[in-house]
Amino acid sequence: MSDKREQFSSKFGFLLAAVGSAVGLGNFWGFPTQAASNGGGAFVLAYLVLAFLLAYPALMAELVIGRYARANVVTALEGVGQTVFSRRLGKAVGIYGVLTASLILSFYAIVSGWMIAHFGQPLAQVLSLHSVSHWLGQDGLLRNLLVALIFMGLTIWIVARGVQAGIEAWSTRLMPLLLAILLGLIIYVLLQPGAMAGLHTYLVPDFDQLTDPALLLSAMGQAFFSLSLGVGTLLIYGSYLSKKESLPRLGVAVTLLDVGIAFTAGLLIIPAMYVAQHHGVMIYGDDGSLIAGPRLIFQVLPSLFGSMGVAGVGLSLAFFALMTIAALTSSISMLEAPVSVIIERTRMQRSRAALVVGTAIFAISVLIVSNMNPLFDFIVSLTTKYSQPILGLALCVYAGWVMHRNQVLKELQTGHLGVEHSLFWKVWPFYVRFICPALILLTVGQSLRG
Ligand code: PFF
Repeated sequence: MSDKREQFSSKFGFLLAAVGSAVGLGNFWGFPTQAASNGGGAFVLAYLVLAFLLAYPALMAELVIGRYARANVVTALEGVGQTVFSRRLGKAVGIYGVLTASLILSFYAIVSGWMIAHFGQPLAQVLSLHSVSHWLGQDGLLRNLLVALIFMGLTIWIVARGVQAGIEAWSTRLMPLLLAILLGLIIYVLLQPGAMAGLHTYLVPDFDQLTDPALLLSAMGQAFFSLSLGVGTLLIYGSYLSKKESLPRLGVAVTLLDVGIAFTAGLLIIPAMYVAQHHGVMIYGDDGSLIAGPRLIFQVLPSLFGSMGVAGVGLSLAFFALMTIAALTSSISMLEAPVSVIIERTRMQRSRAALVVGTAIFAISVLIVSNMNPLFDFIVSLTTKYSQPILGLALCVYAGWVMHRNQVLKELQTGHLGVEHSLFWKVWPFYVRFICPALILLTVGQSLRG
């Protein structure tokens, strides 16, 4: 099987796919507002340090296991186990991982569908389809189902085409487009009245605000979600990477690019919020903090676009195209996690597996859309606050304790000669064994108490 296994055609393809997975809705609605409300530049700096101290070692654990095993997360974790117990546990962790990836996709598809609706609304307006535009702008069950279905259909279609013709091809097309739209929007927004006040709030460092440990812990949670950790997506992407490439270097590149794009997203979002305030839009919630999450994306920014006339229509189209692209390059990695398990453990063909798994996940989305109130928040917390860190912990344990040190070193040496003399090899093995698990336990403990 390993001979026929697909691979990314180049390290560039891997990089864009992995960064595409990491850069998603989390970068746009989580990071910028958290930074602006909690010390600005100081938070950005702290986040960068945390991403490297905690998320990067965990990301490396996934890449090492994936490329070593050259298999999906279930087979990989089962395979590296040396005892019956560690093999069974590995299999169970892998299954927990792909179930978590699937559940994340089930709510991600709903929110991403809203992005499509908000993209379609100004588009229909431009095309003089006023009733369609109105319908797309109204929150309704049928609309939410239809747009989530369109999003899921696109995700299934890309994954069905395979690693190179689907995931890699679309990531290399969409990621440069994402960057171009992002930069264009930043330039436009920074020229608007009010933007500089936003830039000031976002960037001027206030180190006093960084002393709250709860804040640092929540930043770690954000880093985990943002880097797509724990659920086997980076593990499977790592398993499609050529043995010629250096894992530590690519891991650094993915982490830096994800944090860099989150930071850049802040240069758009925070100034845009202050421009909105300039136009009379409320940007603070009842508790006095900046509005974040779906309310930011679907209320604050659309109110701004709505007050800007023709320019607002163009902005709205560009912004929601950006969000849809960011979401799509993430969702394909989520679907690839369970699909790779099915195709490697059964004889099912990729296109059929993508359709079957995608349809099952969409059925969960339908369930959530129809019972938004209790289900949505419950599934978001279950998967992102608890499951992702717990799975990240398990992956660190498998890379640090279950795999032999020599196996790990050999895998790292392929593609990175002399890695045994590098700072990485001096620090990472200790980190992944002790520090990461301890910090993750602290984060989860904190969430449980909170
Ligand atoms: N990293 C994505 C974001 O920031 O939106 C979310 C994500 C993607 C989480 C893939 C989990 C995953 F497997």
